[in-house]
Amino acid sequence: MNNDIEKVLYSREEIQAVTEKLGKQITEEYIDKNPIVICVLKGAVLFMADLAREIKTYCEMDFMDVSSYGDGTKSTGEVKIIKDLDTPVEGRNVLIVEDIIDTGRTLERLADLLHHRKAKSVKICTLLDKPERRVKGVVPDYVGFEVPNEFVVGYGLDYAGRYRNLPYVGILKPEVYENK
Ligand code: XMP
Ligand code: MG
Repeated sequence: MNNDIEKVLYSREEIQAVTEKLGKQITEEYIDKNPIVICVLKGAVLFMADLAREIKTYCEMDFMDVSSYGDGTKSTGEVKIIKDLDTPVEGRNVLIVEDIIDTGRTLERLADLLHHRKAKSVKICTLLDKPERRVKGVVPDYVGFEVPNEFVVGYGLDYAGRYRNLPYVGILKPEVYENK
């Protein structure tokens, strides 16, 4: 599996350091706010698990799996919910935890949905941000790393369902795609 990786972009140690830093900022911001921290499945699972341990104040955790409708030509602000939250968000401070923001479509729609459900505040924490590819005006509140416009895998991110269990983020060798 490690042989399929061309280059490690962020090591386990670098991810750990940035996660600690983000956790400190989030702790300060959310003290006494009892936020609902929402993990966007499946990619954000590893990041969520590590980040949650760095949030040193009361919070709740919930999980959501969404996919964008169609090709994004419809601007309905809708997301197809594959697994919804168990917790009502009305009047609550919500922090969305994502693995990567690419075009921004998924998160824009998700944030709209949570506002529509009358969340008191909606903020976004993403491990990786690919600002070059942005087509929607999503600005994350907390970012681990800005990544170049390459397809990355590991630490939750997959290619064809694989590589999520790598402890680091890396770029796949082109032959891995070509051999499919
Ligand atoms: P949008 O474009 O809505 O999409 O911001 C974000 C989702 O696209 C997936 N994505 C990636 N997944 N490596 C991945 O494994 C990547 O480099 C990558 N870029 C985008 C991901 O599911 C994310 O939630
Ligand atoms: Mg994702």
